Amino acid sequence: MKVKTKDGVKEMRAVWMEGDDVVMIDQRDLPNRLNFFTAKNHIDIHRSIKDMMIRGAPSIGVTAAYGMAQAAVKGADMEEAAETIRSARPTAYDLFYAVDHMLTNMGDDPIKAAEKYADSVAAKCRAIGEHGAKLISDGTRILTHCNAGALATLDHGTALAPIRAAHGSGRDIFVFVDETRPRLQGMRLTAWELNNEDIPHAIIADNAAGHYMQRGEVDLVIVGTDRIAANGDIANKIGTYEKAVVANANDIPFYVAAPVTTFDPNTPSGEDIPIEERDPLEVLDIHGVRIYPKGSPARNPAFDVTPNSLITGFITEKGVFSPKELSRMFD
Ligand code: MRU
Repeated sequence: MKVKTKDGVKEMRAVWMEGDDVVMIDQRDLPNRLNFFTAKNHIDIHRSIKDMMIRGAPSIGVTAAYGMAQAAVKGADMEEAAETIRSARPTAYDLFYAVDHMLTNMGDDPIKAAEKYADSVAAKCRAIGEHGAKLISDGTRILTHCNAGALATLDHGTALAPIRAAHGSGRDIFVFVDETRPRLQGMRLTAWELNNEDIPHAIIADNAAGHYMQRGEVDLVIVGTDRIAANGDIANKIGTYEKAVVANANDIPFYVAAPVTTFDPNTPSGEDIPIEERDPLEVLDIHGVRIYPKGSPARNPAFDVTPNSLITGFITEKGVFSPKELSRMFD
């Protein structure tokens, strides 16, 4: 991804290895500061994922793969490292996929295996961009929720990859960016990425998405996902389900962009996807400022489930599939 810095525009990934350190952009500090966190061991990797220095399903997967490689070269107990990394967050399937992938494929050069995994994620996201861009014409207005950009996927993005590709090929597009309470990944991260690449957009309050869809100002919705169940239901950032319902009510196509590795054949339906509950303070405080009446509790589910019936199609590295065609992803 392109990042505007005071020293000019730099190409950067969300996470990478330097020797046996794992270095990542600390996404908690964006857009105000471009800070980096260096993980020295699998305990740091666990913390970086749990505390959301790094987040987004494919980026979590790549961080886990790097963490496993790091643990191997540092002589850690690999079963313990795998368990520690797996326990960081429950919903994103890529985390479990990446740990298992590394346990099977590490061979005698773990860092090379992790780099290969990372490069394959970046290549898949680029291909998602190429397939998804075919859905975007000159003048298309797209709504996206949360951040399914390069920060969330190592590079390019899933939901943002078609947007980047369409803009890159000269199409005149516009992106509605849901702010995405409570952690504001849309406003802080998606808008930061779009800004860095001069892609026209506007941040909207989460509650405004229905208004713009009803007024005919949104042509297409594209979101990412943390897990695709075997029946095509998906889990994604809290609020995604509402957007899908409103898109459906207004006949707006609703697409989910993800690499095939986000598909979990062992989870039969959305009901079986574990939904992370995070600290209520994420809802109650906004950037450290307490704005609720003392004594009022909060609830904070990080994800919700969108049923396959509301999904027009899946944009994957292998092409675009309807929920009924999902099994063709593996041909
Ligand atoms: O809690 P987060 O920020 O990790 O949630 C991220 C999302 O919900 C993304 O939309 C999803 O991981 C897809 S990322 C390509």
